[in-house]
Amino acid sequence: MTAEDYVPRREDHFSFGIWTVGWQGVDVFGGAVRPPMPADRAVRKLAELGAYGVNFHDNDVFGFEASPAEREERIAAFRKALDDTGLVVTTATTNLFGHPMFKDGAFTANEREVRRFALAKVMRNLDLAAELGARAYVFWGGREGAESGAAKDIRAALDRYAEALNILCAYATDQGYDIRFVIEPKPNEPRGDILLPTVGNALAFINSLERPEMVGVNPEIGHEEMAGLNYAHSIAQALWHGKLFHIDLNGQNGPRYDQDLRFGAGNARGAFWVVDTLVAGGYDGPVHFDYKPPRTEDDDGVWVSAAACMRNYLILREKVRAFRADPEVRAALRESRAGELAAPTLEAGETWRDVRDVTADPDALGRRGMGYERLDQLALEHLYGVR
Ligand code: GCO
Ligand code: MN
Ligand code: MN
Repeated sequence: MTAEDYVPRREDHFSFGIWTVGWQGVDVFGGAVRPPMPADRAVRKLAELGAYGVNFHDNDVFGFEASPAEREERIAAFRKALDDTGLVVTTATTNLFGHPMFKDGAFTANEREVRRFALAKVMRNLDLAAELGARAYVFWGGREGAESGAAKDIRAALDRYAEALNILCAYATDQGYDIRFVIEPKPNEPRGDILLPTVGNALAFINSLERPEMVGVNPEIGHEEMAGLNYAHSIAQALWHGKLFHIDLNGQNGPRYDQDLRFGAGNARGAFWVVDTLVAGGYDGPVHFDYKPPRTEDDDGVWVSAAACMRNYLILREKVRAFRADPEVRAALRESRAGELAAPTLEAGETWRDVRDVTADPDALGRRGMGYERLDQLALEHLYGVR
């Protein structure tokens, strides 16, 4: 492998949120460090770097207060950049968090007026998303939550959350849009506690919707790791349910604020297993990055970090392939009986009656090592670059 082999190609299906490279660095302690980036500039630069697609919030393209004429003008510039570069819109979403009116949430705001406006805002952007060819529509409920106990009736809030998604599923269906919805879980930030905090919560919630088949999950690495969870396990379970319609890749160092580092930074070992899980699980959605170039970076640094997300994915994909093809790894996997787990516990035709009285040699089973340390060391050595 040489450096040239880690060049992104269209068929890698890399995509970025317009808000990622466009982040101006505003945080709770300081203002903008970079100038605003029009969506059309983000599209052109991402295309140069080898990306395949983009994802956008309505207000990444035009401002919340934009007049109809301004809105049309901004959309036209965005569309022209897409046409000129051949980048596709893989995904879209709604900004239901930035404006002060959403301080108590959007679909689960106590005030009904806010909830009705939020639905209208989503429907308007769903029209644009469908027109631009998006196949996935993200629901990240960053403001759907609470800081205090009595302020929010959580069961009522979940009723309203489900009601909103049911209404929007009906809208997309009635309009004939070929679009699937994805819920993006997050445990906290900006709210003290956010509803649907993990992939598991979201998967369970989806089953209570009127059209569960239209709705999947969009797990983000940092969000699961903020909750101390194993992201590779979360996406493996989402794949198992047939619900991994989209992913948000980035980097995070354990349970702390949402770091949104570039993919491959932060928990590098976790990232190795993420790529392994995506490759093995046959994930075929966009390989989407949702990260924030740190405030320390100027415009150059923004593009360095965006390119690095794709490059790190390609490096890890190569390492994962080499790991899986390594004869010593195959032997270690056999030694660990990893393949045996695929065999059902009962033979075909057996029932509980056939195992009710099964005996074993508990001492022998208890003494037998699993060989996982050898196996994991081989993985680390591939990751560390010595194999
Ligand atoms: C976060 C989230 C957001 C959402 C995005 C889509 O970092 O908390 O990832 O970036 O993905 O806003 O609505
Ligand atoms: Mn995040
Ligand atoms: Mn995200």
